[in-house]
Amino acid sequence: MIDSGNNEVSWRLLAGDCSEVLDDLPEGTVDLVYADPPFATNQVQKGRSDRLAYDDRWPDLDSYLSFMAARLTQLHRVLAPDGAILLHVDWRSSHHLRVLLDEIFGAERFVNHLVWQYGLGGSSPSRFARKHDDILYYARGDERWFEPPMVPATSRRMAGMMKKATDVIAIPAINNMATERTGWPTQKPVALLELLVGACAKPGGTVLDPFCGSGTTLVAAVGLGRKAIGIDRHPEAIRIAEQRLTELGDPITPASRQTDA
Ligand SMILES: C[S@@+](CC[C@H](N)C(=O)[O-])C[C@H]1O[C@@H](n2cnc3c(N)ncnc32)[C@H](O)[C@@H]1O
Repeated sequence: MIDSGNNEVSWRLLAGDCSEVLDDLPEGTVDLVYADPPFATNQVQKGRSDRLAYDDRWPDLDSYLSFMAARLTQLHRVLAPDGAILLHVDWRSSHHLRVLLDEIFGAERFVNHLVWQYGLGGSSPSRFARKHDDILYYARGDERWFEPPMVPATSRRMAGMMKKATDVIAIPAINNMATERTGWPTQKPVALLELLVGACAKPGGTVLDPFCGSGTTLVAAVGLGRKAIGIDRHPEAIRIAEQRLTELGDPITPASRQTDA
């Protein structure tokens, strides 16, 4: 385990299969889970080099869904009674995973199906170009903390004003020139995680990312004054996440961070 060694800026990184690590976390102690697991792309996801890669190949859909079902059940156990989960997936499996979440959390605990509209990528001559991921938001119980995030209004009438975000979140994906880019494949933008964590985890609460990759969720959570726990089975991901968190130093505010959008 690697941690911040500092009570004020609190983060913990745990290396290993999240299934094994989650068994050791106490029940009912996490306020928000953000999970960005492998998407069942059936590819080796490659980053800047072969060293920065993780395997996302599965014998079949059933084996992927069994993998997810086991871990979603464990994540349900560690959530506080007023906690919530955000499961980040895409068109390949979001429909299956929503049914799984209905079974594990209860269909009545469904809160939102968020669309992350990321912009990057090409077009297709044979279908509509795929330009979004899906983020499934479920509550653990009856109570849930939520602070509506504010985003710039787009209508002419409200030009220059802010408005409450909708379930379609338009934030650019990390491009090749972005300063926040670590080289880890499928890294998500800090701006997206800041919006999600700020909305769905209470200040001072604990945010858990069981597939933390380069540590984006932890960077956002610590910057917003939440405690953060990250798990990844790839040692190189843990190394990158540790470096990012160490470089953070004192908590930052979103306004003080350089953005690349
Ligand atoms: C989609 S990436 C996460 C990217 C991350 N959100 C970021 O911004 O860098 C999925 C991650 O899950 C990790 N992973 C795959 N299977 C795992 C498992 N069983 N337990 C823990 N981590 C796992 C991979 O190593 C990879 O880093």
